[in-house]
Amino acid sequence: MKFFVDTAEIEPIRELAATGLLDGVTTNPSLIAKSGRDFMEVTREICGIVDGPVSAEVVALDHETMMKEAEILRKIAENVCIKVPLTVDGLKTCKALTGEGTMVNVTLCFSANQALLAAKAGASFISPFVGRHDDNGFDGMDLIEDIRLIYDNYNFATEILVASVRHTTHVLQAAKIGADVMTAPPKVIHDLFKHVLTDKGIEGFMADWAKTGQSIL
Ligand code: G3P
Repeated sequence: MKFFVDTAEIEPIRELAATGLLDGVTTNPSLIAKSGRDFMEVTREICGIVDGPVSAEVVALDHETMMKEAEILRKIAENVCIKVPLTVDGLKTCKALTGEGTMVNVTLCFSANQALLAAKAGASFISPFVGRHDDNGFDGMDLIEDIRLIYDNYNFATEILVASVRHTTHVLQAAKIGADVMTAPPKVIHDLFKHVLTDKGIEGFMADWAKTGQSIL
């Protein structure tokens, strides 16, 4: 499963990129607002840090203006992936852009039927929001299972990008189902490293090593 980080903050992206585990980045208008940075400038900077897809979202709601915005965004770098909402105009834009060889991430997906539409429109990625699904009394992971089944039934190439990930259990469940990608805030990715027995084990080894009085260097 590929790991994307869901943030527009540069330092956490650099830190995670240095682990070699980072396959891409996702941003959205809320994350850009939170960063306080200029959209074009911060997107260019992120594209220079990671080689994989960097999602940059259009903010227009009509197809024609989405295309104009995408035209500007895709010139930022070769690894820009244009993010469009799951609407009629968003999917028209998806079809047009992927037809021209531009990566597209279709966002704000909350049903398997929506995911089917996005795949038919040639989306590179579909982003079902599992956390927001859970928040509203549904099981976000049921949605991922349904999309996996449908995409496998028809051999769709669209990658399932599990988004709105809130905790490490979401990551585990997504991997068990066979999602292609998950995008999570930096904290959730850092939490994946943690285990109380790892910490305890290191503590024990360090204490015993100190008793030997030796040093490797
Ligand atoms: O990738 C989508 C994500 O940014 C939404 O997450 O936590 O605002 O639902 P959240």
